[in-house]
Formats: sequence, structure tokens, C-alpha cells
Amino acid sequence: MTLRWALAALHLIALGIGLGAVWARGRSLRSQLQAEDLRRVFRSDALWGVAAALWVGTGLWRLLGGLEKPTGYYLQNHMFLTKMGLFVLLLVLEVSPLVTLMRWRRIMAAGQSLDTGPARRMANISFIQAGILILMVFTAAAMARGIG
Ligand code: HEM
Repeated sequence: MTLRWALAALHLIALGIGLGAVWARGRSLRSQLQAEDLRRVFRSDALWGVAAALWVGTGLWRLLGGLEKPTGYYLQNHMFLTKMGLFVLLLVLEVSPLVTLMRWRRIMAAGQSLDTGPARRMANISFIQAGILILMVFTAAAMARGIG
């Protein structure tokens, strides 16, 4: 009972952290990209990573642990499958910001100057990911209530 409660709460806390972080990352990437702005981008990106780990950890546990509903319930529910499809799309979109921001971190740490050309595209990706999260909330709320 307590585990079920804790996992559900952490899954929702991930939503609070993740939606805020990906939106903030997008906003910071639209800024002048001075050193302080870049630090903000990296901080938001790190929080985005924390949210992803919390989502996957608690989500898979709830999916496979039989705490809420049997695994079979989710796997035959179209809303759940749509939610997972959206999550995969979100991860695919993340590949380019992940690689670019890792490179930027290295360049900044070495004290070299950055080509901030990809910033606008990464900002757009972040805003699209925020939209995907909203769609995921609708599919999640539906599948938890037997819709789909
Ligand atoms: C690997 C990734 C994920 C898995 C396996 C997963 C799995 C699950 C499971 C099994 C539930 C329990 C539903 C029930 O009460 O029966 C759930 C609920 C929920 N998930 Fe996820 N999830 C994942 C990622 C996400 C993400 C990225 C979001 C962000 C939008 C999200 C949003 C929600 C919400 C809002 C609920 C609560 C639904 C409700 O009770 O109304 N999940 N998820």
C-alpha cells in the first residue's frame, strides 16, 4: 500500500520537475546565451534527466510490479500504448539535444568558445517535448480510468 502510494507520488513529482525543466531549458536556449544563461540551460537539462530517471524507474515498477493493475491490463490498453509511443518519440527527439549539450559542457569546461547555432532548434525541440508531455498526461489519466 505504502509502496503503491510512494511510486504514484514520485511518478507525479517527476511530471512537476520534468515539465518545468524542459520548458525552462527551452526558454534559456532562446536567451542571449551568455555564460550565466548557459549555466541555466545545463541546470534545467540536469533536472530534465532526473525527471526522466524518476519516470522510467517508477513507471516500469508500476507497469511490471502488479501494484495497481496487472501488467496485461496496460499492455492491451490503447491509451497506455499511445503513451509509450509518445514517450519513445520524446526520447528520439532528445538524442540531438543530449549529444549537443554534452559537447557544450565539455567545451565550456575547457574554457573554449561555443558555436551556439543549434540553440534555437534545441529550444524548439524542448517546447515540442513539453507538448508531448501534456498529451501523455491525457493518455495516462485515461488509461488509469479504464478508457482505451
Ligand atoms: C517508461 C515510462 C513510463 C511508464 C512505464 C509509465 C507507466 C505508468 C503506470 C503503470 C501508471 C499507473 C496507472 C494506474 O494507475 O493504473 C502511470 C501513471 C501515470 N503516468 Fe506514467 N509511465 C511512464 C512515463 C510517464 C511520463 C513521461 C509521464 C508524463 C506525462 C507520465 C504520466 C503519468 C501520469 C500523469 C499518471 C497518473 C494517471 C492517473 O492516475 O490519473 N508517465 N504511468
